[in-house]
Amino acid sequence: MNDKQLTGEVYYPSKDVIKHANAKCEKLYEEAEKNLEGFWEKEAKNLKWFKKWNKVLDDSEKPFYKWFVGGKTNIAYNCLDVHVETYRRNKLALIWEGEKGEFRSFSYFALRREVCRFSNILKSLGVKKGDRVTLYMGRIPELMIGMLACARIGAIHSVVYGGFSVEALHERLEDSQSKVLIVADGSYQRGKIVQLKQIADEALQRAATVESVLVVKRTGEDVYMEPGRDMWYHELMNLPIANNSCSVEQVDAEDPLFILYTSGTTGKPKAILHTHGGYMVGTYTTLKYVFDIHEDDRFWCAADPGWITGHSYIVYGPLLNGATSFMYEGAPTHPYPNRWWQMIEKYGINILYTAPTAIRGLMRYGEAWPNRHDLSSLRLLGSVGEPINPEAWKWYYRVIGKENCPIMDTWWQTETGMFMITPLPCTPLKPGSGTKPFPGLKMDIVDEDGKPVKTNEEGYLVIKTPWPAMMRTIYNDPDRYVQQYWSRFPGMYMTGDSAKRDEDGYYWIIGRVDDVIKVSGYRLGTAEIESALVSHPSIAEAAAIGLPHDVKGNAIHAFVILRVGYEKSDKLIEELRQHVGHEMGPIAKPEHIDFVDSLPKTRSGKIMRRVLKARALGLDPGNISTLEE
Ligand code: WT7
Repeated sequence: MNDKQLTGEVYYPSKDVIKHANAKCEKLYEEAEKNLEGFWEKEAKNLKWFKKWNKVLDDSEKPFYKWFVGGKTNIAYNCLDVHVETYRRNKLALIWEGEKGEFRSFSYFALRREVCRFSNILKSLGVKKGDRVTLYMGRIPELMIGMLACARIGAIHSVVYGGFSVEALHERLEDSQSKVLIVADGSYQRGKIVQLKQIADEALQRAATVESVLVVKRTGEDVYMEPGRDMWYHELMNLPIANNSCSVEQVDAEDPLFILYTSGTTGKPKAILHTHGGYMVGTYTTLKYVFDIHEDDRFWCAADPGWITGHSYIVYGPLLNGATSFMYEGAPTHPYPNRWWQMIEKYGINILYTAPTAIRGLMRYGEAWPNRHDLSSLRLLGSVGEPINPEAWKWYYRVIGKENCPIMDTWWQTETGMFMITPLPCTPLKPGSGTKPFPGLKMDIVDEDGKPVKTNEEGYLVIKTPWPAMMRTIYNDPDRYVQQYWSRFPGMYMTGDSAKRDEDGYYWIIGRVDDVIKVSGYRLGTAEIESALVSHPSIAEAAAIGLPHDVKGNAIHAFVILRVGYEKSDKLIEELRQHVGHEMGPIAKPEHIDFVDSLPKTRSGKIMRRVLKARALGLDPGNISTLEE
């Protein structure tokens, strides 16, 4: 790959980077290409199984693929116990810094102890294998402990991002039929307190299945505690029942590990289901090769555990690899724009993995802030969540990585569970491209009829081979799984993105082709924003679209029709924004709201967001033959 002349602007990795890499590039691609199942089987053997699988891949019921069938394992066991039994026992598994500057760390031994204690608490509350447990908090160690405790006893965790609000939480509690909710009293964000427990109380008034609420004390503010329902985490953890040891549930490879809600084309968010076995092998392997995890590495994935990035690469991937995961609670610029750089220096972070929006946000403050710090511990950088514009890529490469750290621009999704299009450390890079599919994966770009498009032509991004960390279904809705992902192009997984492939086979993601808006890398559905808007008494109809934004990538622009008797005003706009923030979460607040008299619709009544977007951008709306009169 290195000797071939590549087109465009190319950045080659240094000899040191190549030498250091776990992945011997060409060899890895060749091996996986030759024997996909053999490739994954070899990786699976690096992990601990209570019983070996009979079959690596079972594709007899497509698209319900199964991996490592017949195998018995437990991902939490592989994250903790396996290391505690080795010299890693005293190695740091997690380093945490709070927004106010507090510091906590856990060795593998200590983290397993806390997870065991909490597992015992969950069991004593009647949580059994297959039960759903919702977690709703900020970036604090208890979130990781809670997730791992669920996994240890075979319960299914459902983490709801701490930036979501009442209705979003309610919907997820209700759909998952969670028995237990683990919530923090509050969280810190930019020096302010978000009253998570208060939001949860309001959501619980709307949701009926939750029997127990466990409250983690983070802020120490007064919160309401409902007798018979609410209990303090720290009090429970001091009971004799919170024993230091707890046996591991030996689960089937295909037993569910977690569900995670994400926004889709229409209607309610979907509960994406991942399993113990395949997800474990996928996250372990991809992190090892892409971010080149070594024994002495401190890996910082700056995402939130409330999203898939945090599940796979703050919690599971780093621990499976026996690395040290770093977690920071707060905002990148609090109290000053050097906060991140200060922590990289302080903790000697080796790998930083973040989103383009964060880079663009920090870039605005100039180079002086990072230049005040010694960032020489950094070896690799990463980007995820949305396409990275070459300007931000180059700033990241030059100012943060000092031209020594390759940038792993990883394309993947909640549904894929693991990196799908990504460089390896030895891959020549082009700013803005995630380069190529991970070894063994076959992806393509196709036209309306499912036929591959020509070089440099835009089309639908599809996946043509199964992979171990793939979603198994939509929880409680297998039909929707088949219909949303596998029906448009038979035999191919539809990603929902459009992309191009250049003459070197490098992929360039363009963006979503469905009704998903990526705001600061966060995935939001137009339907959810619209239903939050129409739940306000003044709104009859609403449409939301994403428009380009310098820092956020996309910003939400809403068009609303008022009910009779309401007048448009700036005050109402602000009230509507607050209302969406209260129902969905601050990230969903529209940047702009326009009052309109009508919305462009098809004859069957579907809002044509494409037309609204074209109009707002002053572009030709394209084919409008289906537009109603
Ligand atoms: C969507 C998935 C799993 C990572 C976090 C997001 C967009 C993700 C990239 C990238 C261009 C990207 C796609 C994808 N996306 N990574 N490196 N370059 N676009 O997970 O919330 O499920 O969103 O994020 O549009 O479909 P998610």
